[in-house]
Amino acid sequence: MSNIRGRFSKPADKLAAQYTASLPFDRRLYRQDIVGSIAHVKMLAKQDIITQDEAQAIIGGLEAIRGEIEKGKFKFASEQEDIHMAIESRLIEKVGEVGRKLHTARSRNDQVALDMRLFMKEAISDTFTGIRGLQKALLDLAEANKGVVMPGYTHLQVAQPILLAHHLLAYFEMLQRDYERFSDCLKRVFVMPLGSGALAGVAYEVDREFLAKELGFSRVSQNSLDVVADRDFILEYEAAASICMMHLSRLAEEIVLWSSAEFGFIELDDAYATGSSIMPQKKNPDVAELARGKTGRVYGNLMALLTTMKGLPLAYNRDMQEDKEGLFDTVDTLESTLAVFAGMIKTVKVNGDNARIALERGYVLATDVADYLVKKGAAFRTAHEIVGKLVNYAAGKGKTLAGLDMKEYKKFSTLFGADVRSITIETSLAARDVVGGTAPRQVKKALAVAWRIIGK
Ligand code: ARG
Repeated sequence: MSNIRGRFSKPADKLAAQYTASLPFDRRLYRQDIVGSIAHVKMLAKQDIITQDEAQAIIGGLEAIRGEIEKGKFKFASEQEDIHMAIESRLIEKVGEVGRKLHTARSRNDQVALDMRLFMKEAISDTFTGIRGLQKALLDLAEANKGVVMPGYTHLQVAQPILLAHHLLAYFEMLQRDYERFSDCLKRVFVMPLGSGALAGVAYEVDREFLAKELGFSRVSQNSLDVVADRDFILEYEAAASICMMHLSRLAEEIVLWSSAEFGFIELDDAYATGSSIMPQKKNPDVAELARGKTGRVYGNLMALLTTMKGLPLAYNRDMQEDKEGLFDTVDTLESTLAVFAGMIKTVKVNGDNARIALERGYVLATDVADYLVKKGAAFRTAHEIVGKLVNYAAGKGKTLAGLDMKEYKKFSTLFGADVRSITIETSLAARDVVGGTAPRQVKKALAVAWRIIGK
């Protein structure tokens, strides 16, 4: 057994030991911990700090422990404080005295910093996969419904006609920014902390560059105090995850709205809907609602760690152990939300007819009629006022703009000619032919660019 209580005269109080232990949750880091230890031991042997034979014995023991954990045969003993001590103790049990050399030139402070960075590398790579999966589902849905028009909203009031594909591409853009934020975060994860020891650096001739290469990091940390006290990279992930969940929550809200009887733009696949225990007719969008709900805990994890870190003097403080559960929860929540959304979006049925009906209800071409008057010579502000009065008149008569006759139009402006009737949803869409606009030509181009980004 490894024992770090040499200077104490009695064992830890049971409750205090339980209170300070992280093993129940940091056991999740066992792979990273073992990979880090193997690289460390290789380096110690290369530098003649331990012998090659000793290194081989330790590496063999660590690999066997990995096997035990993976087969469920490892005993996570409650008297062990954390995953680092649990593995080291088992190593000494298995390989004897030589196991006591593993922790040469290392502290749990640089060890845990390394483990968290290794964990984060994998988490970000999985997050990338999740984002790409949802982006692809959005693009597939956009492709399959290229011709579908719907009302675009501001203030949740019908505003102007847009293509459904254009709306879906807006979420593609948000997710693309999320992707970029995570990849930026990754740059600061790729920093190798070993060699920093507890706080001041180690008193051995370690080869930090070798360790960086061995562990796939692009550089070594430049200040030992900083790197054992730094959890910025976790905060960055949690901040990026919070923004990404905010985006998913907005999409969730639209799915809730669109699948309601009042909108009826989409129908969720049965596999992604739930029933009511009392109302047999209900088909509830619980997946979307839960994603909206879970956004709260992801924000909460970010706020919790920011708050934990804010008053800590350099360097390591035990408070920092609180980084783990929140991070694991955020990673799991974000990844499962991305994956379940991809499935939900892939299987959603679009009801284009309902979307068009909603469009026709809302004087959605009013801006186009104002633009028409501008082309005939009116100033935009004047045109805006004229069309405002026209809409008010039509609404009073219970008519659409298309339902008014020419005489009625002329009452509001002599600039109106018969060609005002050629303004349709299609001409409205086609007119917005600017980069980033909803004109079908632009949306087709945007789709092509998007496919190229995710590599179809
Ligand atoms: N379980 C600890 C953590 O997660 C590992 C580092 C412990 N270091 C120490 N000096 N007690 O932060």
